[in-house]
Amino acid sequence: MSKVLYIKANAKPEGVSRTFRVSDSFVESYKESHPDDEVITLDLYKENIGFLTEDDIALHNVEFGEGKDHPVLKYAYQFLEADKFIISAPFWNLSFPAILKAYLDYVSVSGITFKYTSQGPVGLCQGKKVIHFVTRGGAYSHEPLSAFELGDRYLRTLLGFLGITDFTTVALENMDRSDTNIELVVTDAIKDAREEAKNF
Ligand SMILES: Cc1cc2nc3c(=O)[nH]c(=O)nc-3n(C[C@H](O)[C@H](O)[C@H](O)COP(=O)(O)O)c2cc1C
Repeated sequence: MSKVLYIKANAKPEGVSRTFRVSDSFVESYKESHPDDEVITLDLYKENIGFLTEDDIALHNVEFGEGKDHPVLKYAYQFLEADKFIISAPFWNLSFPAILKAYLDYVSVSGITFKYTSQGPVGLCQGKKVIHFVTRGGAYSHEPLSAFELGDRYLRTLLGFLGITDFTTVALENMDRSDTNIELVVTDAIKDAREEAKNF
């Protein structure tokens, strides 16, 4: 049985957000094909994720096992306990919504999700896998604009730092162009996502 964390980062709600429409379908199909797995939905806006405070930062050197009920550290422990991650976030200002960065600041805690060694930092989240859903107003998958894509790239890098190298991206692009048949693109993506979920 796997533990799956479905991390949602968008101010827009389900049904309205194109990104959520695709990722929600993926999760629905995943639950059907993996009935014994535990899927926890973490809607970062509903969780009221905030910015790290001075007190929070002081806690970043805890002994492993301490602070499991702490409002910030609990997210790092929850992250460590999960086997798979589904991350859903639209492309905002060349990256992703700031609340997702705030959440990553919550989960990147030395002693919990990574550690410092004499050889340098080591991720403690090996063996886990991620699928990242994103929709973008324009197109940033190919050069030269790919250099401006700092969302998926940051996620891959940071989660790689935590030890996660199995990372898949599902990106829908040109979603704000008038010549894009958005409904068709979303419907096709939902079909593909439902299939992909069966083998995630
Ligand atoms: C605050 C904000 C910033 C955005 N920044 C970009 C951007 O830098 N580049 C881009 O191509 N689209 C940008 N967009 C457009 C969204 O990426 C696009 O509309 C996306 O499909 C929205 O996903 P959603 O329907 O799940 O909310 C931005 C949208 C918003 C609301």
